[in-house]
Amino acid sequence: MANVIVVGSQFGDEGKAKITDLLAKNADVVVRYQGGCNAGHTVTLGDKTYKFHLIPSGILYPGTICVLSPGMVIDPKALITEIEHILSQGLDDSGLRVSAHAHVTMPYHLMLDEAEEESRGEAKIGTTKRGIGPTYADKCARSGIRLEDLLDAKVLQAKLDWLLPRKNIILERLYNLPPLNAQAILEEYAAYGRALSKYVVDTAAIIFKAVQEKKNILFEGAQGTLLDLDHGTYPYVTSSSPSAGGACVGAGVGPTMIDRVIGVAKAYSTRVGEGPFPTEQTGEIGEQLRQTGTAWAEVGTTTGRPRRCGWFDCVLGRYAVRVNGLDCLAITKLDVLDQFDQIKVCVAYKDPVTGQIYNELPSIGSAFQHLEPIYEDLPGWRQSTRKCRQAKELPNLANSYLEFLSRELDVPIAVVSVGPERGDTIVIEDPIHGPKRVLVTGPAKVSQ
Ligand code: GDP
Ligand code: IMO
Ligand code: MG
Repeated sequence: MANVIVVGSQFGDEGKAKITDLLAKNADVVVRYQGGCNAGHTVTLGDKTYKFHLIPSGILYPGTICVLSPGMVIDPKALITEIEHILSQGLDDSGLRVSAHAHVTMPYHLMLDEAEEESRGEAKIGTTKRGIGPTYADKCARSGIRLEDLLDAKVLQAKLDWLLPRKNIILERLYNLPPLNAQAILEEYAAYGRALSKYVVDTAAIIFKAVQEKKNILFEGAQGTLLDLDHGTYPYVTSSSPSAGGACVGAGVGPTMIDRVIGVAKAYSTRVGEGPFPTEQTGEIGEQLRQTGTAWAEVGTTTGRPRRCGWFDCVLGRYAVRVNGLDCLAITKLDVLDQFDQIKVCVAYKDPVTGQIYNELPSIGSAFQHLEPIYEDLPGWRQSTRKCRQAKELPNLANSYLEFLSRELDVPIAVVSVGPERGDTIVIEDPIHGPKRVLVTGPAKVSQ
């Protein structure tokens, strides 16, 4: 029995779904704990590629209970479309469970996400325009509609009677957009409620029962640590808590029930949307990392936007190890580095004005914006790693690269992914039961 959190350690799209899929083989329950259909999670099985937005990747294993937690925001239309899609692919929805307490993305949330982004001009966040921010904002303002409200037309009507006139004032007066019709929304969303009612339950109770029965539970993070509302590069973040602590809050499980936290990171870095990205490469190297034309090209799974690409950043990596309390790492997309003679890794930042060196992320976000990366050059291995299935089959220089990252981040690397398919994986140590990070005590090294 083990309850394990899989968390993105960079800016999202680290390959969390591929690692979740690897671990879900032995899981009884797979849980999405935050975010919504802003996520795009890809799993490749032979010639089939599955892209999940709301449904946990564990759905690929028949019989696995797949939970959408209270901490998620759910666009019911998108969920119904995704369920129809998985059924059309021959997958089974009998394990799907959706929390009655998850918040619903309404049409005005979608309109406001778009309008707010546009009004920000140059300062836009680059959201996925899935209504995520406005849905979480209403949740915090206690004006949200929860999935359970869609199951009772009278409750939904009462909420809309209060909400919609207020939303329409914002839509019309602030953004010059057409007002929404309460009756049309009531009918449409009550119908979504009827369609989803068979999945709607108290998911926290299901998870607790699974804990009592000593089942294996896997928590599948969406987005990544640097996109975390509290711990990411605010305001260029999403509106939920992707980091490991968010799993307990979002799913409704106590921290004492978690056995392990596994971080997922690419062997380099990507970011989609706006915001600081110190190791970004905009020229030829960025293009080489992007792998345009391949099935695993760095193009957003949800929005189709090209991802910004750059070298691995150990400062951010150390931060992710700390904020999530990572026990070990899974490094993905090592194969993408097969092509390089030289590989750069950012080991620290330098303030170009004062000359101050930062080994850790500065606590003031604005200070971070103008810091420059200090790189270490590592030799590339210039041979394919795609067919390697054990660490000893990897080129020596590839192993040296992984050892370098592990040393810099002070965390063991348990899994290495060398291709998108389930089998393109090297398990160095059992990520769930193998060695975990030992926290070194002593004088704090965290810089201010
Ligand atoms: P997630 O959001 O963290 O689950 O990641 P995405 O699915 O958005 O993006 C990861 C992309 O990389 C997908 O296209 C995966 O199929 C692909 N991928 C995952 N691991 C590997 C790997 O080791 N090598 C290669 N070439 N592609 C990979
Ligand atoms: P997965 O789960 C990468 C980014 C957006 C934007 C910011 C805020 O596939 O890793 P939002 O729509 O959430 O308000 O956008 O967060 N973003 C992601 N980037 N992967 C994701 O999900 C993301 N979900 C949101 O691009 O910068
Ligand atoms: Mg993704």
